[in-house]
Amino acid sequence: MEIFVVPDAAATGVVAAGILAAVVRSKPDAVLGVATGGSPLPAYQALAGHRLDMSGVRAFALDEYVGLPAGHPQSYGEVVRREVTERLGMDPALVRVPAGNAADPGQAAEDYDAAIRAAGGVDVQLLGIGHNGHLAFNEPGSAFSSRTRVEVLAERTRAANARYFTSESDVPRRCITQGLGTILEARHLLLMVAGTDKAGILARALHGEVSEDCPASALQLHQHVTVVADEAAAALLAPGSGQVPVRVPREAVGV
Ligand code: F6R
Repeated sequence: MEIFVVPDAAATGVVAAGILAAVVRSKPDAVLGVATGGSPLPAYQALAGHRLDMSGVRAFALDEYVGLPAGHPQSYGEVVRREVTERLGMDPALVRVPAGNAADPGQAAEDYDAAIRAAGGVDVQLLGIGHNGHLAFNEPGSAFSSRTRVEVLAERTRAANARYFTSESDVPRRCITQGLGTILEARHLLLMVAGTDKAGILARALHGEVSEDCPASALQLHQHVTVVADEAAAALLAPGSGQVPVRVPREAVGV
């Protein structure tokens, strides 16, 4: 595992975008795993600045709410369209998000998992981490072997995501999420974390017990993980824990 510590959230985006850009340059039809929420947004913004030809790049989103009408501005389908597909000039036909409004969401989840495999798997998977340690919408207790499926959102997750809706009661109760087993099959996991409120859970995920109580501790089981954290989120990472964080100064990041 490599850990980069940068001054702030904007800088996490610069470092993550550099990694993504290198993948796309070496493989113009790369399969990217894209996350939503706030953490990855600086990476999409910074990647747009690389002005790469992204027209052949494929992408799979991590998750989607179940039950939002098509075109709902807070559906992850719409968020990915705005923040990823359009911003980066990708072909919408090559960007997939789970079908949260399918008549049979369980079948849609199975089909999605199969589609990721059929594409040859994910080259680099962007991730954020929830305050309860969730990865994608794998809430505590999710099996490390889990596949893409319908899940019930934890109340804490619904409360955190209420900021995108008029009220917490508007946040859907169910979702389709890639499973932890699905995510662990990606060839490279790229976790972006910013903010003091994530410091405790980041330290637990990276240095704590590997346990399904903390889904993000599954990162410790993967061979190729890059963590890009800002100073605030990295504050509780233990020196001497085996993984030495590399501090990237502001001048090197250029933001
Ligand atoms: C989003 C996702 C979630 C978020 C997590 C952190 O697709 O799968 O796991 O990454 O909830 O959200 P933010 O980045 O908004 O703090």
